[in-house]
Amino acid sequence: MIVVTDASEMQKLCRKIKLQGKTIGLVPTMGYLHEGHLSLMRRSVEENDFTVASVFVNPTQFGENEDYDTYPRDLNRDIKLAEEVGVDAVFAPSAEEMYPIGYCTYVEVLGLTEVMCGASRPGHFRGVTTVVSKLFNITQPDRAYFGQKDAQQALVVRRMVRDLNFPLEIVILPTVREKDGLALSSRNTYLNDEERKAALVVPESLRKGKELLQSGERNAAKIIEAVKKVIENEPLARIDYVDLRDIETLREVETINGPVLVAVAVWIGKTRLIDNFVWGDYPCFGKC
Ligand code: PAF
Repeated sequence: MIVVTDASEMQKLCRKIKLQGKTIGLVPTMGYLHEGHLSLMRRSVEENDFTVASVFVNPTQFGENEDYDTYPRDLNRDIKLAEEVGVDAVFAPSAEEMYPIGYCTYVEVLGLTEVMCGASRPGHFRGVTTVVSKLFNITQPDRAYFGQKDAQQALVVRRMVRDLNFPLEIVILPTVREKDGLALSSRNTYLNDEERKAALVVPESLRKGKELLQSGERNAAKIIEAVKKVIENEPLARIDYVDLRDIETLREVETINGPVLVAVAVWIGKTRLIDNFVWGDYPCFGKC
């Protein structure tokens, strides 16, 4: 496995691979890899001739008072883990390499990005779509892999790919969880023991929403209320949002009669956790 930090070197290598008629899979990450990332990498290795994993903590997707500086980083460990699952190249550029002095071009998806995480983190998705576009242009993948835990991000990137005719497929794979149900996230490392226990309220609240849907409830407000109630019972938790939205448009729905995304963002102390589930048949999540 090789490690590349220079964007034009990475681009040259990927161009060479494409000229050999080989397929490229890209797994974009911000590093501090966990089993969720590794499941995406394994899938890419299975489906492509050459897999690139990018490790880049992208400054443009963090707000001013967010955790860019403290975001966990351990490139050597990431390189080792990526190699173990069969990744062919790790692309780990510096911030200056991706955003040199004078950088002024941004990519923005409108409509899907003003709600949910976009409402709580203004500018976040603009940073994501900008860096992901750059990564697509640098690595020229046939397929790019994203986790369902960041469902809104996956939907936004998929829309960008359609709208801007990027010649690649977005593959969205299921959230990987700890045995007790907490979704894996690099940010889980911020939680102390007490907060880690309290964080279980996140999957628990979603289970409540799913139970109601399974029992036939179709009134969105009632489901949202029940999910909120579970979270409000945990003293260490503070709701950022609980949302139930049409999976294609991310518009709010009153009555559920098609596939919807049920998503929550919850502060546990100073750590913001997100999680979600999809209700209804929607082939792009978990199946493709
Ligand atoms: O999901 C992430 O880790 C990041 O948002 C991504 C897609 C790597 C872009 O920086």
